[in-house]
Amino acid sequence: MAAMAKAKIEHVCTDCGTAHPKWSGQCSSCGQWNTLVEEVGFARDLPQIGPAATPPQPISDVDPHSASPRPSGIGELDRVLGGGIVAGSVTLLGGEPGIGKSTLLLQLLAAWDGQTLYVTAEESAQQVRLRAERLDAVRPNLWLYADTSLPAVLTAIDQQRPELVVIDSIQTMHDPALGSPPGSVVQVRGCAHQLVTAAKRYNIAIVLVGHVTKEGTLAGPRVLEHVVDTVLAFEGERHHALRLLRASKHRFGPTNELGLFEMVGEGLIGVPDPSQLFLGDRRTGVPGSAVAPTIEGQRPLVIEVQALTNPAPPNVPGRRTTQGIDSSRLAMLLAVLHQRAGVGVHQHDVYASTVGGVRLTEPGLDVALCLAIASAVSNRPLPPDLVAFGEVGLGGEVRQVAHSQRRLSEAARLGFRRVILPRHAPDLPNSELQLLRVATLPEALAAAGLGRSPS
Ligand code: TYD
Ligand code: MG
Repeated sequence: MAAMAKAKIEHVCTDCGTAHPKWSGQCSSCGQWNTLVEEVGFARDLPQIGPAATPPQPISDVDPHSASPRPSGIGELDRVLGGGIVAGSVTLLGGEPGIGKSTLLLQLLAAWDGQTLYVTAEESAQQVRLRAERLDAVRPNLWLYADTSLPAVLTAIDQQRPELVVIDSIQTMHDPALGSPPGSVVQVRGCAHQLVTAAKRYNIAIVLVGHVTKEGTLAGPRVLEHVVDTVLAFEGERHHALRLLRASKHRFGPTNELGLFEMVGEGLIGVPDPSQLFLGDRRTGVPGSAVAPTIEGQRPLVIEVQALTNPAPPNVPGRRTTQGIDSSRLAMLLAVLHQRAGVGVHQHDVYASTVGGVRLTEPGLDVALCLAIASAVSNRPLPPDLVAFGEVGLGGEVRQVAHSQRRLSEAARLGFRRVILPRHAPDLPNSELQLLRVATLPEALAAAGLGRSPS
């Protein structure tokens, strides 16, 4: 047997991956508590695959188009990636179990015009084949390899030379030479490093599936984020069909695009017109419902927000329950509604949600959320053709938000006629929208027909 590398015990932070010679309660690098675990590392470098493929060269000699993205055939994915997948790049796709990562990537490989390889380290090749039949993804150019051993996978890549490889998942990959058990930081980092080297060496694109822990972070997140070119997050409510794809890191383009999919019986289908989907089941004339033209990334989404208020039992503080809305933002808006607009709900339970399972954090939603709450508590519906946007400040003022014109044109496209908007927001030329400009929250309530009634 070849001389074994010398084993050494180290304590590795499961969050940032820093190795410490001694255990301590807090990671000295990232400051997290209770993240150090004992691992057996090896006092040697990772295997060297070969000499530098390209020597240094003048910047003017570099061909900028050699790294241009190639469309993947999945439109919503290309939107997020700024056109498609770059050869030689490594992408990490994170998401909770069951959200649809394997489904999306199987569809991606099937749609790719060239040799692809799906490395399944979690499901058997038979299970993947059955799934592929349901997805209509059985293609001659899509190859399967069911193994968890990284050296075997690297050999398979070397023999097949696919253009695009999916590793599902990186946490189940294992390199015996690295010692530690599968899923450990040493393994995840070591395997990812070797795959990145292989991607550059063969100029192939690799997508790694990464599991996300309950707290919503990738297991050993920073470890992998440093290593890869692109980090994608696949999100959504398990019980809704809608799935959102965002990039949190992207070396080849902007990170603010949003991709939308719907999970149906035949897999994931792109949602090019999400506003229609969100407003499809809307019932007009119901108190507590307001519509907001919001912006996610570059993408306008007209979304219904709903509120319901219910008297709380005496001497019990009202409960606040949110879905898709930040609960501390709701608490702040309830305080502003009370102090600046005389709408008090402290004796009420308040439920507030966005419709369709989409999570929204942008402040442009504030005015619509306030209108929904005021409408719910006064039991007066808002006009069905009204939308509202704007940020609400602690003084009760309504502030401008970005992309005003894009919000207006999306609302107009969907047939809305009236808009409550910040006083100085830019106009939309040639639109028939009636613009109701407001400077304060009480003005917004009055414009919506919810002005204070004698109580
Ligand atoms: P999957 O891709 O296995 O999720 P992940 O890899 O992120 O864990 O998707 C699993 C869920 O998707 C599963 O609960 C069933 C559902 N699903 C559909 O609704 N339609 C389909 O065509 C497929 C393949 C899965
Ligand atoms: Mg999976």
